[in-house]
Amino acid sequence: MTATDRIFHRVITNDWPQISHGKGSYLYAEDGRAYLDACAGVHVVSIGHGVPEITAAMQAQADKVCFTYARFLTQPQIDLAAKIAAMTPGDLNRVFFVSGGSEATEAGLKIARKYHLETGNPKKYKVITRWQSWHGNTIGALSMSGRSRWRDDYVPYLLDFPHITFPNPDHCPYCKDQPACTLSCADELERVIKQEGSEYIAAFIAEPISGTSCCGLMPPPDYFPTLREICDRHNILMIIDEVVTGYGRTGRNFGIEHWGVIPDIIATGKGLSSGYTPIAATIVRDEIYDGIYKKENHYVHGHTYGGNPLSCAIALAVQEYIEEHDLVSRCARMGDLMLEKMKPLENSPLVSAVRGKGLLTGVEFAKDKTTGEPFDPQEGITASIVNRVFEKGVLIMPGSPGVIDGVNGDHIAISPPFIIDEEQVETITGVIAEVVAEMERELGY
Ligand SMILES: Cc1ncc(COP(=O)(O)O)c(C=O)c1O
Repeated sequence: MTATDRIFHRVITNDWPQISHGKGSYLYAEDGRAYLDACAGVHVVSIGHGVPEITAAMQAQADKVCFTYARFLTQPQIDLAAKIAAMTPGDLNRVFFVSGGSEATEAGLKIARKYHLETGNPKKYKVITRWQSWHGNTIGALSMSGRSRWRDDYVPYLLDFPHITFPNPDHCPYCKDQPACTLSCADELERVIKQEGSEYIAAFIAEPISGTSCCGLMPPPDYFPTLREICDRHNILMIIDEVVTGYGRTGRNFGIEHWGVIPDIIATGKGLSSGYTPIAATIVRDEIYDGIYKKENHYVHGHTYGGNPLSCAIALAVQEYIEEHDLVSRCARMGDLMLEKMKPLENSPLVSAVRGKGLLTGVEFAKDKTTGEPFDPQEGITASIVNRVFEKGVLIMPGSPGVIDGVNGDHIAISPPFIIDEEQVETITGVIAEVVAEMERELGY
C-alpha cells in the first residue's frame, strides 16, 4: 500500500499525476509536465493560478482572524456582501454565505420554502427543474438536478420534483419538424404547474447557460422572459443557478443578464473565489427577504463555515482583482475568439455542434451527423477525446453523459481562466482539432 492508497478515489482506473503548483493558466506536475488548464479545474479558476495579490490578502486576513461563527460579523463578510449586491441585477441584495455550489442551490430551495411558509402559502414545497440540468450532489440539490447518470444510484433518497424538457434546439422533441423554435419547452412549465397544482410549487430552478451538462448552450431569446412571466403568474420563485456562470464567465457578471430577467434567488459558487478558497453564496431579492422576516426572526438553516472571514477576505480580493483588471470584458472578448476558432470543427464529420458564450464553449459529437445518430455510449468517445487532449498537455472537461436524452450524446466542455491569451486559445483549439482528426482517421471516416 502506498500513501495515495489512503485516498478514497472517485475513479480507480486512472493514474493521477500529482500537481506541485500552478501559475496563470497552467498547472505543473511533480514530474515537470505542464498542463494548460482549459477548463479552469471545473469552471472555477477565473483570475489564474498563483496571483500574489490574493495570497497577500489571504495572509493579511489570516494574521487577524480566520474563523468566527454566526454570533459575530466581520468586515470581510460585510464588504463581500456589499460587493456582491452591487454586482447583481435588480434588488438581489441579500447575500447568504455557504461553502459550495450544492449548498448554495439547496439554500435556495429552503429560502423558497420558508418564504411561502411565511407569506401564507404553506402547501408550496416542490421545485420544478429540467432534465440535463445540474444543481449539485447533496440530496436536495440532486433532487433538483436532471443528470440521469448521477442520480441513478441515489433515486430512493430523492425528492419527487417534476422535471421539464431542456431547451436544446439541436435535440428538441417539440421543434425538430418545425421551421423555427415554438418555445414549447417553456410552455411545458405552465402545463406541469397545472398538472401538479400550483399550490404545491414553491420554485423553478435553471442554469442560464449550461456548464458541463451542455456547455455553452444559449436558450432562445424569449425562453427566460416567458418562464419569468409564468412563475410570476403562479407565485412561483425563480431560482437561477449561476454556480458556473456567475462572476463573469459568460461575459456579464451573471449569465441571466443576457436576457434582462431578474430572478428571485441566484445561487453562486465556483468563480466567487476563483478556487482560492471554498466559498459560495445564495443571493435573494429584498422582497423575498422581507417576506421571510415579516413575522419570523429566524431562518433555520446554516453551515459551520458559511461566511467565515478568511474565505470572505479571499473572495473579496478576487472580485476586486477582476474589477481592477477588467476581466469580465476580457472574458467576453476571449470567448468570442474561442468560439470563432472552434467553429471550423463543425466541418468534421464527427462534430455535430460547437456552442459557446463567453468562456464556456462546448463541442458535441455524432456518429452520423446527417441523421443525428449518436455514438453508442459504450464506445466511450467523450472519454477518449478528453484523454487524448490531456496526453497533449491540455485539460478539458468531459460533458456529462447523455447530452441528448440523459443516455446518448457525447460532448466536451472548454472553459479556461479569463486571463487566457490569444496564443493559448490557438493551442487549445489546435490540440482539440488534432485529436478530432486522429479520431476521424481511426474510426474510418
Ligand atoms: C450549475 C451547477 N450548480 C451547482 C453545482 C454544485 O456545486 P458544488 O460542486 O460546488 O457543490 C455545480 C457543480 O459543478 C454546477 O455546475
